[in-house]
Parts: sequence; structure tokens; C-alpha cells
Amino acid sequence: MHPELAGLLALQPYTVVLDGLVLRIGEDVFPPDLGRCARNLARVCGEYRARCALDMGCGSGYLALVLAQLGVGVVWAADVHDPAVACARGNVARNQHAGPVTVVRSDLFEAIPASLRFDLIVFNQPFAPSAAASNGVCGCGPDGGHELTRRFLRDARTRLAPDGVVVMPFSDRAPPAHDPMLAARELGLGARTLLHAHYAGANNFIHEFRTAET
Ligand SMILES: C[S@@+](CC[C@H](N)C(=O)[O-])C[C@H]1O[C@@H](n2cnc3c(N)ncnc32)[C@H](O)[C@@H]1O
Repeated sequence: MHPELAGLLALQPYTVVLDGLVLRIGEDVFPPDLGRCARNLARVCGEYRARCALDMGCGSGYLALVLAQLGVGVVWAADVHDPAVACARGNVARNQHAGPVTVVRSDLFEAIPASLRFDLIVFNQPFAPSAAASNGVCGCGPDGGHELTRRFLRDARTRLAPDGVVVMPFSDRAPPAHDPMLAARELGLGARTLLHAHYAGANNFIHEFRTAET
């Protein structure tokens, strides 16, 4: 396990303030203050003018709350991991000034109403399969990386509004086969890279995907 992640897990539960949001990070919930990835995603979210947005794999709910704080009128947050769902609900209640967020327990889009069409879907996905015990760490399990990314992007195609986009990060600390760019190419999605930065000894990316028709 990466030493920074191990250090933050040892602190849990702890409270951190990010972007004026007071976030309680419960046990076995992914720390949004790990590295720069979630914070870079938050910056990128600010470049869009979404009306309806989804934070897939919301963990603590940080990105969903950033979206609400940016003025996105309808924000959904979904996670399959029960500790994350409870944590995100607590953080939404704690940060009502940000705006409303609907938090659901959902395996990808399973529990998200099919009638919703999102202008923006952000997914800070597990970059690779977990090497830990069978159910993984912080909800990041053995299907992380390409398998989960491909399933997500396949289903996201039907959940986007016209001109809607998916935003996902990647770091080449993980094997290249798990880069969402590969899954996007397999599915025929339009793609561009919004950020490429070298830090913490790795190349870090944020990619944007859209359906080829939009
Ligand atoms: C890297 S963490 C990101 C958490 C949070 N978005 C952030 O940036 O701090 C990935 C999250 O995806 C969730 N996840 C994994 N598989 C999922 C699935 N099939 N459906 C929904 N969420 C999933 C995990 O439980 C975890 O909370």
C-alpha cells in the first residue's frame, strides 16, 4: 500500500477542510486529500456549466459537494461501498451551504433513475484492481481498473445528456492497460486529455470522454 494512503487510513476517522467543505472521513472511506487527484478533478469540474451532474464512486462525497457548491442544480452521488454512502450522507448534512446532493448506494448506474441525463459525470475510479484482500480497501476491489472502467463507460453512454461529458483521472503508477483511454477507444468514445502533470514520481492525467454522436 502507498505510504501516504496507509498514513491517512491510520488517522480515520478524521476531519479535513477542502474548498471550504468540512469533510469527516470515516473508517474505510477513500481519503479525498490523498495526493492531488481529487483536488485536480474539483478544479476541472469548475470549467463546466452543468445543470445535472453525477459523482460516481463518491467516497466521502467531496466531488459531489464541490459540484453543488459550483451551483449545479441537480447533483447525484453514488457509491457501492456502505461506509462511503454513510460518510457522504453525513458530509452532505454537514455542508448544507453547498447545496443539495442526492446520495445513493449503487453499483455503478444500477440505482440511478434511468430518466436522468447528466451534463457531467465525474468518476475518480480505482486505477487498478486492488491487491488487498478480496473486498479491497475503501471500496476499491478486485474489479478496479479496466474491468470497472469499461463497464462504467459502456453504461455512461446512455446516461449522458446531449453534449454531456465524462471526466476521469489516471496515473501511470497503475499499469497502462487500466488507462480509461483504452476502454474509451474500445467503446468508440470521443476523448481528449484535459490535464497531464508530473508529480509524486508519476504522470497524472485527467481525461474527458463523450459519445461519438454528441
Ligand atoms: C478512488 S475512490 C474515489 C472516492 C471519491 N470520489 C474521491 O475522489 O475522493 C473510488 C470509489 O469508487 C467506489 N466504487 C468502486 N466500485 C464501484 C461501483 N461498482 N459502483 C459505485 N462505486 C464504486 C469505491 O467504493 C470508492 O469510494
